Amino acid sequence: MALPSAPRTPRLVAAHALAAGIDFDRYFRWRRSREGDPFYVRFPGLGTALFTGTAAGARELFRAPVESLEPPRPNPIEPLVGAASLILSAGERHRRDRTLLAPAFHRGRIRAYGELIRDSAIDEISGAAAGSVPWRPGATIDARAASRAVTLRVILGAIFGVDDRERHAAYTTAVAEFLDAFSGPLLLVPALRRGAFGRAPWDRFLAARDRVDRLIRADIAHRRTTGRSDDTDILGMLLNSSVTLSDDELCEQLRTLVVAGHETTATSVVWALYHLHREPEVLARVRAEVRAAGSDADPMRLATLPYLDSVCQETLRLHPPVPIVLRRLTAPFTLRGVALAAGDTMGVALPLLHSDPTVWPDPGRFRPERFLERRFGPFEFAPFGGGHRRCVGATLAEYEMRIVLATILARVRLALTPRYARGRTPLSVPHNIATGPYRAITFDVLS
Ligand code: HEM
Repeated sequence: MALPSAPRTPRLVAAHALAAGIDFDRYFRWRRSREGDPFYVRFPGLGTALFTGTAAGARELFRAPVESLEPPRPNPIEPLVGAASLILSAGERHRRDRTLLAPAFHRGRIRAYGELIRDSAIDEISGAAAGSVPWRPGATIDARAASRAVTLRVILGAIFGVDDRERHAAYTTAVAEFLDAFSGPLLLVPALRRGAFGRAPWDRFLAARDRVDRLIRADIAHRRTTGRSDDTDILGMLLNSSVTLSDDELCEQLRTLVVAGHETTATSVVWALYHLHREPEVLARVRAEVRAAGSDADPMRLATLPYLDSVCQETLRLHPPVPIVLRRLTAPFTLRGVALAAGDTMGVALPLLHSDPTVWPDPGRFRPERFLERRFGPFEFAPFGGGHRRCVGATLAEYEMRIVLATILARVRLALTPRYARGRTPLSVPHNIATGPYRAITFDVLS
């Protein structure tokens, strides 16, 4: 395949990776402005991929024959999730693991997580959660840290049913250290993934991953020896299934859910809070809707409030936390008229798809009403990807965003700290598996 415009020398590749690391959305817009759609992008550790940012392109990619697709390898997130992860498996193995995991996220089961989500948010606001501070008037809240703590409690509760405070604290520390150890440079520059007498960032990352795995393996061993494998949580469900997974496989699948299942949702909650507090009319309208539902409303009712729903959709449109969706080809395929061979990689750039002015008038503006005025198709709006690999946790994430936001809005009044209340929206940069605001976004608690 001829790649006329993708950077090829190592220095250029590194410069492009740096540009993407500094401002992902702008980098993609720039690439497209030079080449049109589709366009090539090359990242170290990922190789070259042909990207599209149009609904027609997304349709072609998401409808490509399943048997000729697999995840790109080598994959920059492999050290995080592991080779056995659902995110990286293909073919029959992917089908099997998806069949195994998907029931944990079906709507019927999510209902059971509703109270877990609301209680986790309330514990954060009241300061009852380990390591949290009460959201009292005069306090300043780091929204990212708070959101991450809430969603981590939810995913740990859903997977392991962790209700032991000490064990929970051990998980929280280990997961935070593990994710923080996988910095942007380690993600984007594979050459840095080398040890140096226990002192290199890579050594620190491996040690942190080991600590998380030891906790997960201890939980698996405990369940296997006590025979406690009721399926009220995801681990129990997997141990009860007719497919026997080895401890290694189980550990990587569960680590995948922990990694994929909390930072993405946490980032989305932060962006929603950010935009709500920059748009007083939107905030007033959603607050009125939440108030009318009642502060003790069933969490599942909160998850169906129409204006809150459109606020969440608009947030995911403007800030898709997983901004690129990739497929590697195992057979020839044509994307937007460009012939690709087996071994080539193609992708959808969600920030471009979600800002196409022919679909989204005034695309840079946060305007939730657009989701009340029109329904958007799965190839126009795809924050959870599409086709056979669409995010397996999408339903949980959607409920979680709505319940956490409604719980916060019903209980406290916040204001963005002066640094964020005006001026440009903070840039999105890669954090582990997702992208998120490059700095903590802070709020003052008013009442
Ligand atoms: C707002 C929150 C979230 C967003 C925006 C998001 C987005 C995505 C995207 C774009 C993909 C790739 C889809 C594709 O290739 O077509 C994905 C895959 C995945 N997500 Fe999510 N996700 C979120 C939350 C979650 C949660 C809560 C979980 C689990 C608890 C989860 C687990 C996964 C897994 C396991 C995959 C791989 C699926 C496969 O390859 O079959 N995600 N997600």
